[in-house]
Amino acid sequence: MNNFKVETALSHITKYAPFEDIAGASHFPIYNTATFDLKKQKGNKIYDYTRSDNPTRETLENLFTKVENGSGCVCTHTGIACVALLFETVLKANSHILVEADCYGGTFRLLKVFKEKYNITVHFADFLDFEQLEEILKNNPIDLVLCESPTNPGLKIIDLKEVATLTHKYNSLFAVDNSLATFISQKPLELGADFSLFSTTKYISGHGAVVAGAIVAKTKELAEKIHYYANAHGRSQNPMDVYLITLGIPTLKIRMKEHQKNSIKIAKFLKKQEYITKVTHPALKSHPQHKLAKEQMRYIPGVFCANFSSLELAEKFIENTKIFGEKCSFGSADSRVEIPAKISHASFSKEELEAIGIEEGTVRFSIGLENVKDLIADIKQAIK
Ligand SMILES: Cc1ncc(COP(=O)(O)O)c(C=O)c1O
Repeated sequence: MNNFKVETALSHITKYAPFEDIAGASHFPIYNTATFDLKKQKGNKIYDYTRSDNPTRETLENLFTKVENGSGCVCTHTGIACVALLFETVLKANSHILVEADCYGGTFRLLKVFKEKYNITVHFADFLDFEQLEEILKNNPIDLVLCESPTNPGLKIIDLKEVATLTHKYNSLFAVDNSLATFISQKPLELGADFSLFSTTKYISGHGAVVAGAIVAKTKELAEKIHYYANAHGRSQNPMDVYLITLGIPTLKIRMKEHQKNSIKIAKFLKKQEYITKVTHPALKSHPQHKLAKEQMRYIPGVFCANFSSLELAEKFIENTKIFGEKCSFGSADSRVEIPAKISHASFSKEELEAIGIEEGTVRFSIGLENVKDLIADIKQAIK
């Protein structure tokens, strides 16, 4: 299966199983077991305990390794668990980490925990500003550089190739949170990153039925390290949840295309409304990194921000809408909205939010797979 393109691999998940199912089942069996009998295993591979290794989870890990073009993967029980696993693998007490200031609120909170408990120094920077980045890398012993692209919620597009080159010049490791773009659109490891990680809760599973994550390492050495720490810290995903994730995967490509198409229509509609002061969608020509977004991603995800002229108006819209749920996650078939300053990024101060362009009336949209005419009619009636 190694020469096949991503969407072909995603349509044949069972081919990534560590051994052949004797019945040729179209879904690889769920090995819902804690332990394995060592006496029964004749091959090289020995499964002993599901926290360490499990054939169902290994199938998904092999698939993710292939589609991200890495050397190994660990599937974790949540998306934030793979960010934690990354920190546990790379950082030690007193380490320094450099993070794009516009990051997911849960990552921000986790950084605070690591800072308080392990005396980690966290440097926040604007990753569009290479001079600032180089200055920090030159003057501090940075062990790890981490960013998202697109960032959540600011939707900046980071030049991953350039940041990888700069990071490696100073012998640091570079990790990319690929939750928004997903591997169908963007391959951080091919652009030079050492780790690509993602919340599979979002677009990858696509149905909002489960929380999960995964981290893929570029080299064998780093892959062995994440596997070791995942076992030590008990970060691995349970087989039943792996199964739920695999149900959405074969349709990822067509869903991403549809999310992109629908979201562009809604973003363009909102841009024309007098109660909206700004729309930030990387697929629009008005986005400052629009050109890079098109070069770096095959499909642009259906998440964007619209700044309402006031918080009251944003809240009125959310209250009155009949289709859009007020939900904090993104990437599902149903359209949803949230106010980052109040929900997903509530742990940021007003100043920290302003620095990444988020106002109190900013609404983050995750556009689903509904008929776009229904969505526009719903926005019109909600704001009347
Ligand atoms: C960019 C990003 N990374 C990581 C996570 C954490 O994923 P999970 O919610 O599956 O733990 C999220 C969740 O919203 C996210 O937006």
